[in-house]
Amino acid sequence: MTLRIGIIGGGLMGREAAACFGRWFALENFPVQAELVAVCDLREELLDWFSRVPTVELRTQNHHELLAREDVDAVYVAVPHHLHEAIYCDVLAAGKDLLAEKPFGIDLAAARRIADAVKASGRFVRCSSEFPFAPGAQRAIQYIQSGALGRVLEVRAGFLHSSDLDPTKAANWKRQSATCGEIGVMGDLGMHTVHVPFRLGWKPLRVFAQLQKGYPERPDGQGGRSTCDTWDNATLNCDVEIDGHLVPLRLEQKRMAPGQTNSWYFEALGTEGGVRFNTADANSIFLFDYQNGQSWNRLNLGHAMTFPVITGGIFEAGFPDYNLQMWAAFAAERAGALGDRFGCAMVEEAVASHELWQAALQSNAEHKVVTL
Ligand SMILES: NC(=O)c1ccc[n+]([C@@H]2O[C@H](COP(=O)([O-])OP(=O)(O)OC[C@H]3O[C@@H](n4cnc5c(N)ncnc54)[C@H](O)[C@@H]3O)[C@@H](O)[C@H]2O)c1
Repeated sequence: MTLRIGIIGGGLMGREAAACFGRWFALENFPVQAELVAVCDLREELLDWFSRVPTVELRTQNHHELLAREDVDAVYVAVPHHLHEAIYCDVLAAGKDLLAEKPFGIDLAAARRIADAVKASGRFVRCSSEFPFAPGAQRAIQYIQSGALGRVLEVRAGFLHSSDLDPTKAANWKRQSATCGEIGVMGDLGMHTVHVPFRLGWKPLRVFAQLQKGYPERPDGQGGRSTCDTWDNATLNCDVEIDGHLVPLRLEQKRMAPGQTNSWYFEALGTEGGVRFNTADANSIFLFDYQNGQSWNRLNLGHAMTFPVITGGIFEAGFPDYNLQMWAAFAAERAGALGDRFGCAMVEEAVASHELWQAALQSNAEHKVVTL
């Protein structure tokens, strides 16, 4: 079976997706082939870039032309957030399946309208979030599901980078509310931080949010200045209920985190165990050994992937590997072959993330705890 894919938005993430399909053969005994057949972007130079992908038959600036093709089964849409709703709904109306990018609409109202359109269409739709496919994230999930934590005491998850620390960096659509959304960094990085807690059933009951803005102006890249009005850092202190106990869950999303490049982390501590994973140290996971005094043990992970690949088991994994695994999960689930493996973020999870971001905006504005 071959999954024929179209990409709308061939920028940073559109090209990362193309690279996944380009090395699809690395997947071992995988039931679905993947082929990129059509690409849409407004920028000529990006369409030229896709000429290096031999399976691409259409390169266009009009996404309706891509959607009119009968040989496109599923579409990946990676465009600025203010365009999500219109283009996702066009994809569904054209009868195509969809891997949507986060945050799944510019705000909660848009996310809900997209979710309604998904339901009405009956199409297979998932939302992009790669980091839970890192070997350390998968190992942490298995550890928690085994009950090794005992009673859960606290959970922390975050995604940190330092892209906005440099004031000379030019502004782009991610720094402006009109195109990124009022939720700012939460829309940018938040789906990544909540995917694992949500999947474990840990949904915030209450949130107290601390939001921070960065530089209010940046170069516009054309000799002028541009206003930047989005939140850069968001620290959310939440209550979740786990096995009848209220547990603190701290979610950090930061674009101004000194020293960080693209650090996704997840930590959970319990009365009997603990687990820590950070992509900044992607080959290692730390497990707390209750039986052995107060000791954290470092375990090297190698290439322990959800879907086996030809890569040697001792080789460390990185972002392109997580992304390939996420795409494999999308293709497998769509084909009914996911089994009990971890799946891509679901529409309900994307909408729930927006409910949290909206509550966080309110919490920050009113300096109070908001109940979800
Ligand atoms: N999953 C991840 O790890 C991850 C990482 C970065 C960004 N993202 C998400 O991916 C999406 C895109 O982000 P990006 O970093 O790739 O942005 P980008 O700016 O690099 O690329 C967006 C592309 O969309 C194109 N575009 C704009 N309007 C269009 C239209 N009407 N038709 C076709 N193409 C159009 C632009 O020309 C641009 O090339 C966003 O939703 C973002 O949040 C996800």
